[in-house]
Amino acid sequence: MVQPKLTQADYSKISQLVYQHSRIHLGDSKMELVSSRLGKRLREHGCSSYTEYCELLHGRHGAEEINHLIDAISTNHTFFFREKKHFEFLESTVFSDFNKDPAFRADGRFRCWSAAASTGEEPYSIAITLARHAEKNPGFRWSMECSDISSTALATAQAGIYPESRLDEMPLDIKRRYFQRGVGSQLGRLRVKSELRANMQWHLMNLFQDSYPFDSKFQVIFCRNVMIYFDRPSQEWLVNRLARMLLPGGYLKVGHSESLSGITHGLQTILPAVYRKAPK
Ligand SMILES: C[S@@+](CC[C@H](N)C(=O)[O-])C[C@H]1O[C@@H](n2cnc3c(N)ncnc32)[C@H](O)[C@@H]1O
Repeated sequence: MVQPKLTQADYSKISQLVYQHSRIHLGDSKMELVSSRLGKRLREHGCSSYTEYCELLHGRHGAEEINHLIDAISTNHTFFFREKKHFEFLESTVFSDFNKDPAFRADGRFRCWSAAASTGEEPYSIAITLARHAEKNPGFRWSMECSDISSTALATAQAGIYPESRLDEMPLDIKRRYFQRGVGSQLGRLRVKSELRANMQWHLMNLFQDSYPFDSKFQVIFCRNVMIYFDRPSQEWLVNRLARMLLPGGYLKVGHSESLSGITHGLQTILPAVYRKAPK
């Protein structure tokens, strides 16, 4: 089947819808990417043109299809212990703040949110760091909330099963301690052990939705490598929203290539890509 041609007019309609629903700003340069990623959606619905697909998006089943559209458009690239310094910072600084400052300890449980969890490598890297700290510090209790707008990415994350090659860089002792080796049809795959997964909750969630399903604030929020897809007003809105979800003294971590300079927020800059809400 010949791939239908994406016209500028249809691309504009699709970009607008993507922006309205996710704040992902596609700009003018992503036309080829959009057309290559949406081919499967068009085939699935038997659409012979993008115009027909746009009509479907605005029709009766539009709301459901928009979720597939966002899924197809979103970039889920991630890997274990990406930007290693963020995990070292938990150990060097955040855990000692938690020990020293009763206001920062809140109800005594360390709470972290991975706000763009993708396929799970980021939240599991955080969970491993927290679990290792708990092994050395009996009494340290922790829990994690993990969320993403992409249902396929989140399903992979929640399953916690990865080809061994995804963990090539991980030290052997960590692999042995926190992963189970697959057998039979699962040979060549590793699964995150249930003792880690038991402390983790998963949410299919848009960062721009009206309210978040959390009733307590966080010591740390990881919102990394997702701000780059949003425009400045959306970034500013989101950073201020996330800041309100932090406990006093709490930390927000963004990706190393995501500077918050030029946007107005009340957080202190601690290191590049690490921001802090003023302690009480
Ligand atoms: C490149 S991945 C980053 C994964 C991980 N945080 C990391 O740094 O390796 C970006 C993720 O952001 C998610 N995302 C994009 N827009 C979103 C939104 N509006 N709300 C929630 N998640 C979103 C995408 O689905 C994707 O999984």
